[in-house]
Formats: sequence, C-alpha cells, structure tokens
Amino acid sequence: MILPPATLGVLGGGQLGRYFVMAARELGYRVLVLDPDSHSTAGRIADEHLIAAYDDQDALNRMAESCAAITMEFESVPADSLAYLAKFVPVRPSAEAVAICQNRSVEKDFLRRHDFPHASYVDIRSEDDIKNAPTNLFPGILKVSRFGYDGKGQARVKGRGDALVAFHQFKNEPCILERHMALDYEMSVVLTRDENDKTECFPASQNQHRHGVLDCSVVPVRDASGHLAVKAREIAEDIAARMAYIGTLGVEFFVIDGALYVNEMAPRPHNSGHYTLDACVTNQYEQQVRALCGLPLGDTKSHSAAVMVNLLGDLWYSGGSGYTREPDWYKLLAVPNLKLHLYGKHHARPGRKMGHFTVLGEYPEKVRETAMMARAAIGIRDE
Ligand SMILES: Nc1ncnc2c1ncn2[C@@H]1O[C@H](COP(=O)(O)OP(=O)(O)OP(=O)(O)O)[C@@H](O)[C@H]1O
Ligand SMILES: [Mg+2]
Repeated sequence: MILPPATLGVLGGGQLGRYFVMAARELGYRVLVLDPDSHSTAGRIADEHLIAAYDDQDALNRMAESCAAITMEFESVPADSLAYLAKFVPVRPSAEAVAICQNRSVEKDFLRRHDFPHASYVDIRSEDDIKNAPTNLFPGILKVSRFGYDGKGQARVKGRGDALVAFHQFKNEPCILERHMALDYEMSVVLTRDENDKTECFPASQNQHRHGVLDCSVVPVRDASGHLAVKAREIAEDIAARMAYIGTLGVEFFVIDGALYVNEMAPRPHNSGHYTLDACVTNQYEQQVRALCGLPLGDTKSHSAAVMVNLLGDLWYSGGSGYTREPDWYKLLAVPNLKLHLYGKHHARPGRKMGHFTVLGEYPEKVRETAMMARAAIGIRDE
C-alpha cells in the first residue's frame, strides 16, 4: 500500500492528468507530471512538472527516483518507457496492457483472439493489402494504427481507390481498414480494477459524437431493458481481466440492432467518464489513485442522472469576427444543477477540448432537456 504524502507520477499532462493531480492531492499525495509541453494543464497544478519527452532517459530516471508509483493519462506514451520505469517502481496499468490499447492493430487482434465482438477489419501495411482487402469492408474507415485520437488519422473510404489515396495521405503508416457500420448509438463503460482482481464499474454512458469528437455523454443509457448496459459491463470486465489490468480503463462500444461491438479501449480515465466527477460517490480519477496505491476501491454509485457536454475550442471563435473571445460563462453558470469545468488551457484551437459541463438531476429526460438548452445557449450549433 502506498500512503500519502508519497509522490505519484503521471505520464501525460492533459485534462485527464489534471483531474488525476486533483484527486491525488485531495488524498494527500504529491504529484509529478511528465509532459513535454511547458503549458501542460496538469503540469501547472502539479507539485512538480518535468518538461521533457516521454522517452527522455534523464526524466525517466528522475521519475523512478522520486515516485512511489506511476500511471499515465495518455495512451501513446512509449510502452518501452513504462517497461523501463517498471524495473524500479510499480507502473499501473502495465506496459503490456498499454501496448495493446495504444496500437489499433494489436488491440483488434486482442479482441479477435479472445472472441470479443468487434467490427470486421484487416491490417493494412501495403498497397497490396488494400487491393486484397475483402469487398465487404467497403464502405469503410481507414484508421492509422498509432497516435490517432478524436477521429484524427481516420478517413472514410468508399472503395479501394479512396483507401489508396488515404493510405498515401497517412504516409503509408500501418493502418487498419474497418467496415463502416450504421450505428444505432455508442456507449462506454469505465471501470477500475485493483491488484486483487476486484473490479468496480461506473454506470455506462451513452455517447454522441460530432465530427469524430465526443460531444455529449448521457447517464443512464436509454436502454429500457437495462440488458445492454449489463452486457457491456460484463464484456469490459472480461477485457480488463484478460489484460491483467490494474487501474482505470475505458471501453467504447457500438450498438447496432441491440448488439454490442467493442470499438476500442483507453488505458486511462475516459472523456465519457467526466460525469463521475459530479454524479458519483467516487470519481474515475480517485479510483485511478486508489488502484495505483493499493487502496480499497470506492463506491461507483451515481446519485443523479447526468449529461456531460464537451466544450471545444470552436466556441471561442464563434463571435463571427475571426478573433477569439471568452464564451458567455454567465449564461451557463445561471443554469440550475449545472457544473462547469474549464481546464485552464492557454490557447483555444478549433476541436481542442477546453472544458465541459455536467447537468445533474433526478429525472433523466429533464436533465437531458436542460443540458441541450444550455448547450444551445452557449452557442453550440448542430449543423
Ligand atoms: N467502423 C465504424 N463505423 C461507424 N462509425 C465509426 C466506426 N469507427 C469509428 N466510428 C466513429 O468515429 C468515432 C471515433 O472513432 P474511434 O473511437 O475509432 O477513434 P478515436 O480517434 O480513437 O476517437 P476518440 O479519441 O474520440 O476515442 C467513433 O466514436 C464513431 O463515432
Ligand atoms: Mg474512440
């Protein structure tokens, strides 16, 4: 068991890391953040911010010396760095688990080998692989195997011609070609698994994306039978067990005709789990701290229905002048039962996650209405 005031290390310094820092500090720990960006939103509030690359040997040595345990908030950190750190201190989740989740091809292979339902796909390493791809994968989506996020590194392709163009645009990097499916909706499950193989799941959320980026998460999911959420939870728990996972894990699902398909896994807290900050007894970041430190997992019960809405950098540009301006927070803060979160990022860019808000309440429909009204009031348009 690692007790406060020990120092915990986190690789990556975005908003997920920022909440990890806050959760760890609430429990009395010190936190060291490794992130090459000097403006890192987590680094700025940490006890120490190491500004260096994720494979910088001196920085890794410094982390190994000063941290009692290490985790990550960004799945693309080199698995080699995690394996190196693990020689000196506990690293949770393990380099092996992160290596599966950070490469779509390895991830899909994992799903296939263990018989988890997933979209049909093939690995694309050469033009020949595109020429030989099964016809039923078109129309499809070509996705780069590494470093994609928020729909970046993905192209919709109608046929082989499009796929070749996209493959060249991705500089012939290894990709997967996946069948484009007509989704009824998307859903995710966030869970935390501890070193004694105990797992606690948060209530599943129903997710809506816009332009490939998460827009809203709705909890509880609108599945009258309750059956899908239970099934999704079972699959997510099974995935975590098969990776011998320790820590907080997000599992994304597609729902089609009442059936679940695993989309991908995130070896860290998940954007769709932001709602746990305000609606659950324990939030996903505190669970991450607890699992990392060998503490008992907390209660994941939600005490309210919740709708979380992401606030992207586009909002800062919506004044029409081409210049950025601060959105009208007054309007949002005037909405009853709404919690506003801003990440303190220096610079708004279109598509960049700048903050989110969560509306809470007893009645799911009412919460949804209020959230959609607030979303429109702040200027988010559905075009
Ligand atoms: N095979 C598919 N069929 C239909 N829609 C898809 C498919 N694959 C991806 N999408 C859509 O694109 C979104 C982003 O895809 P995916 O989760 O693979 O990428 P990502 O870049 O890792 O995104 P994120 O970082 O938001 O999780 C999905 O949530 C879904 O809305
Ligand atoms: Mg995704």
